[in-house]
Amino acid sequence: MKNIILLGPPGAGKGTQARKLVDERGMVQLSTGDMLREARTSGTEMGRKVAAVMDGGELVTDEIVIGLIEEKIRASHGAGFIFDGFPRTLAQADALGAMLHRSGQDLSAVIEMRVDDEVLVRRISGRFTCGNCGEVYHDETKPTKKPDVCDVCGSTDLRRRADDNAESLKVRLMEYYKKTSPLIGYYYALGDLFTIDGLAPIEVVSRELTDILDQQSAT
Ligand code: AP5
Repeated sequence: MKNIILLGPPGAGKGTQARKLVDERGMVQLSTGDMLREARTSGTEMGRKVAAVMDGGELVTDEIVIGLIEEKIRASHGAGFIFDGFPRTLAQADALGAMLHRSGQDLSAVIEMRVDDEVLVRRISGRFTCGNCGEVYHDETKPTKKPDVCDVCGSTDLRRRADDNAESLKVRLMEYYKKTSPLIGYYYALGDLFTIDGLAPIEVVSRELTDILDQQSAT
């Protein structure tokens, strides 16, 4: 199984699609956002620093996130990684290439999910997540079937993220355009880039993604 990157701005649907690939293909989701949210609950000095940076919408240092990913790649079982929210800078992209090379792996595709800014604002402001199993919902486009109960695990621990507000989102978008969007050219030049329409409904995006994966597996 090969490794892929889901690349896109906040709210593009990276986490939603990564979870589907985990369920449908047994791939392993590596979300640096999830890892950092876990680190911030550790009560350590590092956790407190990470929390302040994330809540403001800025990027955490390359050193911290590269360290988090390196541990996971080292413990790889060959199931195929979905890099969700990583890399986000050119330094992270270089580090990922080197880490994969050292462990005898490579990338099969980098999938850019394109979504207009005004849609991102609506997606982020309506998002909530199950604190128990991580399922992602939306007030309008993907509500729970029973009010306040997770469809997947039945938990009532439904949460909204501290950085899902208009002020932090503005900073997150700026960070994306300044530091992460240059990766589109970086991966295009390597011949790894595919672009899909992230505005399409979740199931349509999912089909496009699996078509790309199937095509890449066949090569
Ligand atoms: P992270 O957790 O990675 O957040 P993000 O990149 O801002 O992405 P999101 O999780 O907000 O969006 P998503 O694309 O996963 O969308 P989702 O599927 O949930 O990072 C958070 C912070 O951590 C960063 O700001 C930074 O501080 C730090 N960080 C993380 N990684 C880092 C790194 N590598 N380097 C440095 N710092 C790092 O969907 C959103 C909503 O839309 C949901 O409600 C969903 O139901 C809905 N939706 C999804 N797809 C569709 C669709 N096709 N149609 C309609 N609705 C849809």
